[in-house]
Amino acid sequence: MSAAPIGEPGNKAIPASADATLSVRPLSSGVLPLFAQRWSPRAMKPGVNVEQLHTLFEAARWAPSSFNAQPWRFLYARAETSDWPLFFDTLMDANKSWVANAGALICVLSRKVYTHNEKDFPGHAYDTGAARQNLMLQATAMGLITHAMGGFDAALARKNLQVPDGHDVHCMIAIGLPGDTASLPAPLQEFEKPSQRRPISIIAQAGAFSDALEATWP
Ligand SMILES: Cc1cc2nc3c(=O)[nH]c(=O)nc-3n(C[C@H](O)[C@H](O)[C@H](O)COP(=O)(O)O)c2cc1C
Repeated sequence: MSAAPIGEPGNKAIPASADATLSVRPLSSGVLPLFAQRWSPRAMKPGVNVEQLHTLFEAARWAPSSFNAQPWRFLYARAETSDWPLFFDTLMDANKSWVANAGALICVLSRKVYTHNEKDFPGHAYDTGAARQNLMLQATAMGLITHAMGGFDAALARKNLQVPDGHDVHCMIAIGLPGDTASLPAPLQEFEKPSQRRPISIIAQAGAFSDALEATWP
């Protein structure tokens, strides 16, 4: 008998707290619970090991890409290693306040030209986003928290991490174990809940583009 989908009864891969996420993010039937169970908490605890990170990169590398060029590149540091400050110091103060409790930081890069011919690769960022999502969904399935951040100094990251010119620096991802909301600075505690999404009716339609897709929301 095949295993139940991630997050459904019979599959214990992710903690019970994920059920609470589904109660505020109900899904149409047939949609894998994992999509809604992934969200971006800030309350986290360290304790992420290298094997777990490798599992996340394994998930990332199976993303599709133009010409199968796989433009994504990942640099990482685990907390309390000598690499950690090179990553952590690039974050905006607002992010530093909670990332201080994370177990690892990943810096997401992409190669801007194809490796097979060194020509421009217009979709390098688009394809790298798919790999990032694979990584984050895999983390959810493993009971880990992920939180992507654009709030960092990309120029400093480029310098600290010796990123060559032919690559873009996209985001940092904090990874950790689930933490207690009470551990967050008070102003962040009220935001510690899963967000909602635009309904399908204003993101997808048959045929040509219409004003429905320009609807404000919520
Ligand atoms: C590229 C990117 C950059 C983001 N930057 C930040 C950030 O700097 N700080 C932060 O707290 N959250 C950041 N977020 C988290 C988003 O606010 C969050 O993903 C969004 O509100 C949807 O919520 P969810 O991830 O919980 O579903 C970022 C997310 C992405 C994908």
